[in-house]
Amino acid sequence: MKIVVTGGAGYIGTHTCIVLLEQGHEVVIVDNLCNSKPVAVERVRELSGKDVAFYEKDVCDGEAMREIFRKEKPDAVIHFAGLKAVGESVEQPLRYYENNLGSTLTLVRVMEEFGVKNIVFSSSATVYGDVENPPLREDAALPNHAACPYGTTKLMIEQILKDYAVAHEDFNAVLLRYFNPVGAHESGRIGEDPAGIPNNLAPYIMQTVVGKRDKLHVFGNDYPTPDGTCIRDYIHVVDLAEGHAAAVKLFEKDGCGLRIYNLGTGKGYSVMEVLKAFSEAAGQEIPYVIDGRRDGDLPESYADCSKAKEELGWVAKKSLQDMCVDSLRWQRQNPDGFGE
Ligand code: NAD
Ligand code: WQD
Repeated sequence: MKIVVTGGAGYIGTHTCIVLLEQGHEVVIVDNLCNSKPVAVERVRELSGKDVAFYEKDVCDGEAMREIFRKEKPDAVIHFAGLKAVGESVEQPLRYYENNLGSTLTLVRVMEEFGVKNIVFSSSATVYGDVENPPLREDAALPNHAACPYGTTKLMIEQILKDYAVAHEDFNAVLLRYFNPVGAHESGRIGEDPAGIPNNLAPYIMQTVVGKRDKLHVFGNDYPTPDGTCIRDYIHVVDLAEGHAAAVKLFEKDGCGLRIYNLGTGKGYSVMEVLKAFSEAAGQEIPYVIDGRRDGDLPESYADCSKAKEELGWVAKKSLQDMCVDSLRWQRQNPDGFGE
């Protein structure tokens, strides 16, 4: 299939492009580079040994998207493009609603105009909020809004795609709810490259290992969990990428309609367990301090992954140790990420 990958220069997008290219798909990346660098696209070409079309365009720009669809005639779209920083979304809600909803509305409109009926959308475990206890199943009741505007954009986009699918019987949309993506390609050539001080646990630990940060701040050790720190379902980014390739296979059969799948491992690890795993992989102690709780953090979140296993034939294969080893290889080989 020929697949337009929006946000394909980003962390999950680059890893997914590699897997799609390995499986014989053609890939067209559309990314405005607001949170990524052109060298990431170069590395996708290098690792795959394939030519990959790249358009530095904003998905909110309807005319630019029409031009791309006219030229490339894609069969499907994977929509990664979006802003994703939780704290920033609290400070700049309009920017998040404009970019995340605007890009999706424009994209679906252009897909309709060009008769493209297949989309995979990057949703998030954040849509579950705190309504139900883990393991979280896809049919769980969802809250009206998430813990932050970023999360609410995911809830709203899911609803837009659900409504659109009701109105268009031949529309196929696979909503993938990612848990906590970690790790990097085993080559060490691509990986997560957060701008500024990392918000997320694994990038913060990695930067502490290479000496860019003094110590990890553990946000709370008084949660009702065995060691008092929060539990999350960390998933290797290459497993996640393979989940997208499995979703695309649904488009090769007859119409799949609207489907929703969790992409996680089904197993939760606490902050202290993750820190220990990184210490072992790094072969060094990683300094840390216990701080207060961070607003909005839930004690525990992990997936029930049985639906993806049954319907997509997909399961996460890589361990927490793989995530740590691969992340560290990327971080050590590229201490400044993709550079300036
Ligand atoms: P990322 O920031 O590395 O990648 C997103 C890419 O989209 C970036 O390259 C950015 O430049 C691009 N982009 C943003 N807005 C754009 C626009 N309007 N037009 C064109 N390009 C645009 O993030 P990621 O971690 O790879 O996440 C990919 C998707 O997965 C996002 O939608 C994110 O919300 C979702 N997600 C991520 C996580 C996570 O923890 N990383 C978890 C759940 C869901
Ligand atoms: C994990 C645990 C922190 C940093 C976020 C988004 C979610 C999704 C994935 C996009 C928590 C603790 C963290 C640090 C710490 N993204 N922590 N010190 O919050 O589960 O999920 O990323 O959709 O929407 O909310 O991930 O990596 O930020 O935190 O102690 O410096 O690590 O408190 O318990 P989170 P995280």
